[in-house]
Amino acid sequence: MSQVVLLAGSPSATSKSTQLLDVAALLLSSYGLKVVRFGLDDFPAEDLLYARWHSPAVKAFNQAIADSAGLIVATPVYKAAYSGAVKTVLDLLPERALEQKVALALATGGSLGHLLAVDYALQPVLSALKARHIIGGVYASDSDFSKLDNGKHAFNSEIEQRLQAAVARFIAHLPNPGHAQLQGQDLSRQVQAAQISI
Ligand SMILES: Cc1cc2nc3c(=O)[nH]c(=O)nc-3n(C[C@H](O)[C@H](O)[C@H](O)COP(=O)(O)O)c2cc1C
Repeated sequence: MSQVVLLAGSPSATSKSTQLLDVAALLLSSYGLKVVRFGLDDFPAEDLLYARWHSPAVKAFNQAIADSAGLIVATPVYKAAYSGAVKTVLDLLPERALEQKVALALATGGSLGHLLAVDYALQPVLSALKARHIIGGVYASDSDFSKLDNGKHAFNSEIEQRLQAAVARFIAHLPNPGHAQLQGQDLSRQVQAAQISI
């Protein structure tokens, strides 16, 4: 079974970019792919700030990447680029960490003004890590989201469709896409949980 690593790069407990990642995770799982998730909480801040390569948390992340067929990174736009925290995680990956792997970036920003942040900021980092395929990213602005009672966010159907298409392209570019098979029963359960429609 192919493994995919998901990295959430927002420090917010009610993060919108992480919400995109949550739905991507459900979609990947519904295709029988193994999802391994990491967030900023999984790393001691000092290990990231002082670039501690031998940190157990950093090693666990690097191993998960090494064992995976692809990486999906979600980040808020901070000052016209990715969050600094997500960059400190990516900086600790070995050279060529994404060689032979597929990568996808998801980002949310306060407005459409920084729509291209994924293209000019995050995708070059994925490229520097030698990702074999970089799937066109998904950008959503805060106005695409509405707040739910549980404090989390739901996003509109246009973003939902773009996210589904991006995840489908991601799966199609995995080394063995034929291994990803839609689990019919699982899908309807996952879709309900994600409050999305397909
Ligand atoms: C420190 C900081 C800097 C930000 N800089 C930008 C920016 O340059 N451009 C933009 O469109 N939004 C900016 N925003 C807004 C966030 O990108 C936006 O609210 C995003 O959806 C937050 O994602 P999250 O909920 O996953 O943390 C900034 C927010 C913060 C807290």
